[in-house]
Amino acid sequence: MLKIDLKKLKIEAQKSLKSAKNLKDLDGVFRSYFGKKGEITQAFNLIKDMSKEVRAKFGKDLNNLKRFIEKSIEGKKAIFTKVVPGKEWLDVTAPGKKLSLGHLHPLTVTIRKAIEIFQEMGFTVVEGPEIENEFYNFDALNVPPDHPARDLWDTFWLKDGKMLLRTHTSPVQIHYMEKNNPPLRIIAPGRVFRYEATDASHDVQFYHLEGLMVGKTISVANFIAIIQEFFSRFFGKEVKVRLRPSYFPFVEPGFEVDMSCLTCGGLGCSVCKKTGWLEIMGAGMVHPNVYNACAINSKEWQGFAFGIGLDRLAMMKYKINDIRLFYSGDLRFLEQF
Ligand code: PHE
Repeated sequence: MLKIDLKKLKIEAQKSLKSAKNLKDLDGVFRSYFGKKGEITQAFNLIKDMSKEVRAKFGKDLNNLKRFIEKSIEGKKAIFTKVVPGKEWLDVTAPGKKLSLGHLHPLTVTIRKAIEIFQEMGFTVVEGPEIENEFYNFDALNVPPDHPARDLWDTFWLKDGKMLLRTHTSPVQIHYMEKNNPPLRIIAPGRVFRYEATDASHDVQFYHLEGLMVGKTISVANFIAIIQEFFSRFFGKEVKVRLRPSYFPFVEPGFEVDMSCLTCGGLGCSVCKKTGWLEIMGAGMVHPNVYNACAINSKEWQGFAFGIGLDRLAMMKYKINDIRLFYSGDLRFLEQF
């Protein structure tokens, strides 16, 4: 069997390391020990043919030597790569490296702005669960089981057939009114889900902002004033709103709310399909059955509720033509904001 004298190997290694003058020499030294045919590599190959008694000691010594050579190479390398003060040349006129900083998603900016405006008008922010049961999403909102109005919302049902992904943020009204007595002034922003085919203006998830204001004398006039103020502040210009009669089971009367077109100021253009108005949200006066479901006296209290689609709002503000871009994670899109 070939014998290897590790002591001798160590002395040789020290010699060749000493004579290495630069990084290239050092690389040569490295390869002569650790390359495919390197001395250390070959020594390791011998271990398998050794007797048990010899193997243990040899293996230990070999490992020590390996570590010793590695460390010495590292040490020399550090010396060769070290910048010598005074000899180094720094171009202070070279342009700096730009740090790539992240920023908020346009939907996050929209949600925060909406919250800020409503908070300034005295609304409290409330959150509710994204997984609901039928009672909160439908029954308590005056949509009884088997009522055709349930079909107004394409629903993702969970496996048990009782729980669902909330189709709107209106259930937060119920959670809140169960625990709090009027007068009330809340908004509930959050994610909602619809089991729908997607296109440029529909996605299976999007953001709603629910509003609820209840008092002794709260009327539609209060609603118009507040929502007009909200839109004007949000878009930074005077916005008018108009109401059209509509049906939502949890309000009576119910409205579809339009705002004057931002692009043409109400004169009529391609964005508003020449009508001067843009459909923006649903609203209405809270239905007595909703108060009843929360043990609130509907003869004593009255108020309004509304639901704004935040994605639509962001699309109008930033002139985005496809809702799916928000959830695409596409940096080419996101970096424009
Ligand atoms: N929840 C309704 C929707 O899903 C919006 C709405 C909220 C309408 C409150 C009236 C009152 O579209």
